[in-house]
Amino acid sequence: MKLFLDTADVAVIRDMVPTGMVDGVTTNPSLIAKSGRNIAEVIAEICALVEGPISAEAVSLDFETMVKEGDKLAAIAPNVVVKLPLTWDGLRACRVFADKGIKTNVTLCFSAAQALLAAKAGATFVSPFVGRLEDNGADGIGLLEEIRVLYDVHGFDTQILAASLRNVNHVAAAAVAGSDAATFGADTFKALVNHPLTDKGLDAFVADWAKTGQSIL
Ligand code: E4P
Repeated sequence: MKLFLDTADVAVIRDMVPTGMVDGVTTNPSLIAKSGRNIAEVIAEICALVEGPISAEAVSLDFETMVKEGDKLAAIAPNVVVKLPLTWDGLRACRVFADKGIKTNVTLCFSAAQALLAAKAGATFVSPFVGRLEDNGADGIGLLEEIRVLYDVHGFDTQILAASLRNVNHVAAAAVAGSDAATFGADTFKALVNHPLTDKGLDAFVADWAKTGQSIL
């Protein structure tokens, strides 16, 4: 499963890249607003830092303007993925980009029926929002499982990009559910490595090693 950072904060991305685990980045209009930066500038900087797919979202709601915005975003760098909302206009725009060979991420997916439409529109990625479903009392991980079955049964190549993941358990469950990629913030990214028994075991190894008086170097 590919691991993407969900942020428009270039400093955060720069900090996480040396882990060698950042396979891509997703942004959305709220994250761009939070960065306080110009979208074209920030997306260009992110694309220079990370070779993998970088999602940049069109913000208009009508098909024609969405296509114009997507064309502009895609021209920023070859690894830009045009992010489009799961609406009829967004799906129409998705088909236009798919036919031009431009990668897309159909976002704000909350049902298997919507995921079916994204795949039929030729989406490269579909983003089911796990955390926001759970916020509304629904089963977000269950949706990932349903979409996996749906895409496998029908042979769709659209990749499932588990989104709105809020904690380590979400990331692990998204992987078990067969998601192709997962996106989440830097705090969750950093926490993936943690386990109290790793810390406890390491403390014991360090203490026992000190007693030997040896050095490997
Ligand atoms: C994904 O593409 C979205 O940017 C993101 O995962 C939304 O997460 P949130 O529900 O925590 O805002």
